[in-house]
Amino acid sequence: MPRTTSLSRRRLLAAGTGLAAGLATGCGAGAGGAPDLDAAAEVPTGDVTLDWWSFRMATADGGDVRETLVRAFSRRHPNIRVNLVEAPANTDITRTTLSTAVASGAPSPDLYMGDVAWPAQFAYNALALPLGSLLPGAFWEGFPDALVRALSFEDEPYAFPFYIDQSYLYYRADLLDKHGLAVPRTWEEVARAATAVRRAGDADMGLVLQGAVYEGLTANVAELVADAGGTVLDPTGGRVTLGGAAGERAFGFLQDALADGVVPAAVATFKEQDSTDAFTGGRAVFLRNWAYVWGVVEGAGSPVAGRVGVMPRPGFDGGGPGGHGCLGGWCNFVNPHAAQPGAAVAFARFCAGEEAQMIIVRDTAYLPALSAARASDEARGSRTPTLALAGEVRLVARPTQSPRYPQVSKALYTRANTVLSGGASAADALAGARADMAAALRGESL
Ligand code: GLC
Repeated sequence: MPRTTSLSRRRLLAAGTGLAAGLATGCGAGAGGAPDLDAAAEVPTGDVTLDWWSFRMATADGGDVRETLVRAFSRRHPNIRVNLVEAPANTDITRTTLSTAVASGAPSPDLYMGDVAWPAQFAYNALALPLGSLLPGAFWEGFPDALVRALSFEDEPYAFPFYIDQSYLYYRADLLDKHGLAVPRTWEEVARAATAVRRAGDADMGLVLQGAVYEGLTANVAELVADAGGTVLDPTGGRVTLGGAAGERAFGFLQDALADGVVPAAVATFKEQDSTDAFTGGRAVFLRNWAYVWGVVEGAGSPVAGRVGVMPRPGFDGGGPGGHGCLGGWCNFVNPHAAQPGAAVAFARFCAGEEAQMIIVRDTAYLPALSAARASDEARGSRTPTLALAGEVRLVARPTQSPRYPQVSKALYTRANTVLSGGASAADALAGARADMAAALRGESL
């Protein structure tokens, strides 16, 4: 009986593209040396403990699906103990914390949940194990192309799919009914309905979204620009395309919404949780947020449960079909210096597989990454509308393919926030965003 089970017969190039690139530029190659891909390809048979940096994922009954996944995994691998390391839920904070820890060569966490916006930066700086040689090509065919592209850098995947986020518009169905208002089909109708309900004194906020100075605002802006028929960068990710009529409409919408009181001034500080709290607290009529938020607004203990509707995001009046939603989500990266790389790969692969993905479908409002799970009868017939409607959303990818994406995104969200905080006009913020994104792409610091 061999001590290990082989996951893959192929062996890797010593270090992988990302490490080579990181070393070549002297950026963050990490202190732990080249990753041990042979070890990563073997599932340990002795007793080991694996540290999984992850955040709580609510189940419909108020539990945490990570515990269910860990129990299911341990039935198959009783010798591998998975220890949950609690991560902050804010993408920018967790990115900074992890990149510092992993670059220093720390062996823990072995595996970490990371944003689908990170792979280019993490690959380039050798902060994630390259996965191309560990998994057969057919493995990746099981997932949406847009997701696999997001998880790859220079054609090599760097993270295991886990769950997908895509955005929706949540609304207070009871308040629309009370005021004889139809479910809005355009942003202009959203603004009118929000104003009518506010004026009647039934809510103090109209539309809430994520407008703080952080990655979430980039996601909001990218989809508003798509609603207006534009893009942020060209398909290569090397040139700024934001501007013109589409840019003006997207930024102009934020400016007008603030001026008209459709979005509250506080939105300039709102992240996912703040906007969700305003909505579940009964203070807002509309909420733009990710799919999993259905499980919160309609979950046990939500004061607005039973009174909420959800739909794909609308478009602009006369601006083509709506239904855009930013592609977000979280995946599992293996620390290239992991103490237990083989166990980490086995668990991450399990979480991407059918058994785990169907647990996500049955127990949560998170959207599975595995296409077969998304298309399963259980998913399509689900009473969770965000899951049943998943195929209707037109996914908008953020331009994450450049290792400089964090700076590009910072340029965009910082300028967009000046509109929401009333500090700049839409036109000035747009011009500033274009200039700052171009500078970020040239490698200049902002
Ligand atoms: C969600 C998304 C992630 C996005 C983040 C922005 O966590 O899954 O992709 O970057 O929100 O706040």
